[in-house]
Amino acid sequence: RQTYTIAVVPGDGIGKEITPVAQEVMEKATEGMAGFKYVDFDLGAERYLRDGAVLPDEELERIKQTDAILLGAIGDPRIHAGVLERGLLLKLRFGLDQYVNLRPCKLYKGVESPLKNPGDIDFVVVREGTEGLYCGAGGAIRKDTPDEVATEVSVNTAYGVERVVRYAYELAMKRRRHITLVHKKNVLINAGDMWQRIVDRVGQEYPEVSHDYQHIDAATIFMVTDPGRFDVVLTDNLFGDILTDEAGSVVGGVGYSASGCINASGKYPSMFEPIHGSAPDIAGKGIANPTAAVLSAAMLLRNLGLDEPAVLIENAVEADIEQNASRRRSTADVGRDILGRL
Ligand code: IPM
Ligand code: MN
Repeated sequence: RQTYTIAVVPGDGIGKEITPVAQEVMEKATEGMAGFKYVDFDLGAERYLRDGAVLPDEELERIKQTDAILLGAIGDPRIHAGVLERGLLLKLRFGLDQYVNLRPCKLYKGVESPLKNPGDIDFVVVREGTEGLYCGAGGAIRKDTPDEVATEVSVNTAYGVERVVRYAYELAMKRRRHITLVHKKNVLINAGDMWQRIVDRVGQEYPEVSHDYQHIDAATIFMVTDPGRFDVVLTDNLFGDILTDEAGSVVGGVGYSASGCINASGKYPSMFEPIHGSAPDIAGKGIANPTAAVLSAAMLLRNLGLDEPAVLIENAVEADIEQNASRRRSTADVGRDILGRL
C-alpha cells in the first residue's frame, strides 16, 4: 500500500467548496489500496490580496516534490486580469512542464446538451500546454501612445510539438484510433506546417491510427454539427483553450468537465482541475456542483497508476448524473450521493 503526497490548491470561490468533496471521494475509492498525504497550499486571490504573493518560487519548489496536484479554481473579479492567470496557473503549467493539457468531453446520459441531435459524444482534446501564444514571448512598445505596438509571439518547437503528438497517438491507440489535428495552417503557415509534418511523420509509427485535419474555424462548426466524429482532437495551446470551452458547453456545461495538466515524462507532478472557474456569484452558498472536481480526482488517480479506483469513481459519477442530473442538489448532497455509489 503506497502513500502519495498530494499538493492541494483549493484556490478561490467555489474551489474551496468542491475540493474537499473530491478528496473525500478519492479517499473512499482507494481505501486499503493507497494512502494520501495532503499538503495544502494557500494560493489564489485571498492570499494575493493579503500579502501580494501569487506563487513564490519556494512554494513552487515544494509543489515539485509532491506526486500530484489537485486544484479547485482560481480567479476573483477584484484582481486585474492576468495576475493570477499568468502568475499562478500558467506558472504552474510552465514551471512543471505540463505539456499535455488533457480535456475529456463526454455527454453523459441524463444531461441535456444544447444541441438538438447531439448523438454520442465522447472525445478527448489533447491541447499542447507549454508553448504557442501562451509562452509569454512578445511585448508592448510606445505604450499608451497612438503608435503603440503590442505583440504576442506563438512559439512552437519541434521538440514541444513532437512530444504532445506522441502522447495523442498513444492515447488514440487506447481509444477509437482516430486523431483530428486542428490548426490554421492556411494562414499560420510556419507553425501549422510543422504541426502537420510532425503528425504525418509520427503517424507512420502508428499505422492503426487514422488522422485528418481541420482548420480551427471549421472545427468550431463541426463541434456543434457533428461532434460524434471526434475521438482525439489534437491542437495547440490557444486553439485548445477556445475549443474546449465550446466542447464543454456542447456536453451540457462545464460543470461536468475535468482536466489534467500533465507532465507525461514524469519529471514533475501533474495537475488536475475542473475546467470551470471560481464562480464568485454562487460561492459560499454550498450549491456548487462538485462533479467536475470529483472527475478531476479520478484523472489524478489514473495518472498515479491507480486505474481501478479511477474507474470506480467514473462509474459512480456516471450513474449519479444519469439519475440526478435534472435535480437541484447542494454540494454536500452530490458528494454524499457519489460516495454512496462507491
Ligand atoms: C483554462 C483557462 C486558462 C487558460 C486561463 C485561466 C489562463 O481558460 O484553463 O482553460 O487559458 O488556459
Ligand atoms: Mn479556458
